[in-house]
Amino acid sequence: MRKKTIGIGDFQIGDDEIQAVHNVLVSQRITEGIVTRKFEQAFAKYIGTQGAVAVNSGSSALLVAYLTFQVCGKSKKWVKGKKVITSPLTYVATANAMVLAGFEPVFVDVDPKRFVITPENIERAIHEHGADNIAGIVPVHLMGYACDMDPIMDIARKHDLFVLEDAAQAHGSLYKGKCLGTYGDAAIFSFYIAHNIQAGEMGAIVSNDQSFLKLVKQMKANGRLCDCFVCTRSKGTCPNVDANPDSDNDPRFMHRFISGNFKTMDLVTALALTQVGKADAIFKKRSETVKYLNEKLASLEPMISLPPYSPEVSYLAYPLVVNDSSAINRKAIRRLLEEQGIENRPLFGSIPSQQPAYEYLKSAYAGKLPNADYLGTHALYIGCHQYLTQEDIDYIVAIFKKLPLTRK
Ligand SMILES: Cc1ncc(COP(=O)(O)O)c(C=O)c1O
Repeated sequence: MRKKTIGIGDFQIGDDEIQAVHNVLVSQRITEGIVTRKFEQAFAKYIGTQGAVAVNSGSSALLVAYLTFQVCGKSKKWVKGKKVITSPLTYVATANAMVLAGFEPVFVDVDPKRFVITPENIERAIHEHGADNIAGIVPVHLMGYACDMDPIMDIARKHDLFVLEDAAQAHGSLYKGKCLGTYGDAAIFSFYIAHNIQAGEMGAIVSNDQSFLKLVKQMKANGRLCDCFVCTRSKGTCPNVDANPDSDNDPRFMHRFISGNFKTMDLVTALALTQVGKADAIFKKRSETVKYLNEKLASLEPMISLPPYSPEVSYLAYPLVVNDSSAINRKAIRRLLEEQGIENRPLFGSIPSQQPAYEYLKSAYAGKLPNADYLGTHALYIGCHQYLTQEDIDYIVAIFKKLPLTRK
């Protein structure tokens, strides 16, 4: 086996990253502060939204966003019902956080080539479940592929539904010339180690609605009263205290909402900030790798379907579908790749039919999500990250060309 394995993701700590963490350490403040504010501004600017709020993971970003939609829903006509439409083919956090926040997932089928939910399937689900029972739509831009956001937003506006884009895998992906994450009422991103932009464990919520982001700031800190983007207490003033001069309460310890602690640390956001500065280069390198692999592996079709290439996609990884025409199945291919040092993962599995935690929904969805069920059992992904060398990429090509895909 090759000594160097080819991972799904990698994060190489260079001088910039060491310096960034060093600066935080010598500042004597490692919890959230000025660096986190800088990250939030830089990331909002990169995506193109009015603001961003950092949290400690993408899963937390989802939970905080769902909890925020719960509390602001009534004033916006959202949250009439409890059901939220989303993709069955996603990392399970999309659905888990929804359930934890008190919503009920409604899964609709995905496009077989680009793995994302379609406006037609969303419309059908609204018709089937009744618009009054639906609170929102959570399109997941899986592997960086964009959901068709214009018609999805039209549907949402028509029925007064919130839209939370799960862009955990799509930092910098474009849809009609604008970054994903700018279309919905809010969007979430993950900065987990294997993602397009990494920091270890971290997440962010972006939005163009400052009042929503203020609620997010409260919700991520046990629902506390403080909601300023920059704390002015060190300057002797605080809007919450100034508004209630006779009160002896400290707004940091007064709580409007029932929530949890989802705050992050300057130590981590400092790392994320270095990566935002490199985002365009990361995007370009991943895109070139996907294009190159597609050109070199074209002969594997139709046994293996390659990912559609678009220069607008910021690729989380290199997804492949092992079709029934292949002489060996996904399990065998995954094992062969692993033996040759190429790390790989199944494409998550279709939640209601393949995730044990959602067993209670299995019979209700039997036969209803054919594309997600097929991809959940036939698709896998390998890395296409920015640290792969040309030798690594050619090694991947050579190993794939040796796979025994054709029947004798
Ligand atoms: C689509 C999607 N949503 C949410 C998450 C959760 O992010 P995190 O792992 O940072 O909690 C992930 C993580 O892989 C993801 O892929």
